[in-house]
Amino acid sequence: MQYDNLMKKCIELAKQGQGQVSPNPLVGCVVLDADGQEISTGFHEKYGSNHAERSALLDIEAPGGTLVVNLEPCCHHGKTPPCTDLIIEKKIARVVVGMPDRKNGGAHKLREAGIEVIEGVLEQECRQLNEIFIKNQSGKTFIAIKTATTIDGKIATANGSSKWITGKAAREHGRKIRARYDAILTSSATVLADDPQMLHKTKIILDRNSKLTGQEQIFKQGEVHVFKEFEPEKLFEMGIMSVLVEAGGRLSGEILPFADRIYHFMAPKITGDNSAKSCFDFRKITDINESLNFKIESVEHFGSDLLLTYTL
Ligand SMILES: NC(=O)c1ccc[n+]([C@@H]2O[C@H](COP(=O)([O-])OP(=O)(O)OC[C@H]3O[C@@H](n4cnc5c(N)ncnc54)[C@H](OP(=O)(O)O)[C@@H]3O)[C@@H](O)[C@H]2O)c1
Repeated sequence: MQYDNLMKKCIELAKQGQGQVSPNPLVGCVVLDADGQEISTGFHEKYGSNHAERSALLDIEAPGGTLVVNLEPCCHHGKTPPCTDLIIEKKIARVVVGMPDRKNGGAHKLREAGIEVIEGVLEQECRQLNEIFIKNQSGKTFIAIKTATTIDGKIATANGSSKWITGKAAREHGRKIRARYDAILTSSATVLADDPQMLHKTKIILDRNSKLTGQEQIFKQGEVHVFKEFEPEKLFEMGIMSVLVEAGGRLSGEILPFADRIYHFMAPKITGDNSAKSCFDFRKITDINESLNFKIESVEHFGSDLLLTYTL
């Protein structure tokens, strides 16, 4: 309880690195002096740059102080020297940690140096912040699906009219979500229906039957990979740690079994047309109990639309 607000601050600081730090974790750090006054903050800004602890500690002296950080400090040499060494050198008395780094021994090293270590502060929130990093530790790419639907779950009319289902605020937030991911993935069907730009540094298009010409808008920016099949393990080998699927119901449905998270924007509209395209369309079932079950993680408002976030 005592450190909850400071840990929340670390999480907010860490989020400033979203989209920049992959394959590293998102980390934020707050330093208090021996009297408990906040004297410095830091966060991991981008891959290869200083870790959050280093950026918070480099220009200060804090003997007897407390360092709060959402991930256990590293004790190994990577692109930067170990954070534990700097924490010890700066004579920090207490380190408050959100979640452990399984490949690490940072907490142990700090304790050996006589530093008090408090672990597990807002651990669940810290794990959620670094869900991509955690998934990657098992050698797999984090896969999310984004869809925008009417209340009756439709993403387009039967003839493909789809612009726009949601309002400006929801679409703007959708672009922010996109920026958090290493790559986006779509289908030739969606590219041919909408000819979208889909601005992003890395794009993957599934085009099984070579329907695309290469002249479509999506090819005009970023690094574009065209594949025949969806192969989740191949993405990890390519160094893509997270991918956001932005496609129609057939591809989103195919990918559903692999999805770690679904972003569902919902507009207060009803098509009332059963032939309109559904957001997940990949099978026929006869028993409603065969439905896949998800957990609603959050509900947010963007203008007159909702964003529902689900996990399996
Ligand atoms: N509102 C939204 O959020 C949103 C987002 C995107 C798109 N849309 C709309 O959705 C509509 C398109 O939806 P859709 O259901 O027709 O198409 P889709 O789901 O985007 O793509 C379907 C195509 O993906 C390919 N595919 C599926 N599974 C695959 C796999 N495992 N490996 C390789 N390729 C695979 C197939 O291509 P082949 O046929 O070549 O085999 C299939 O035709 C458009 O009207 C678009 O406007 C809406």
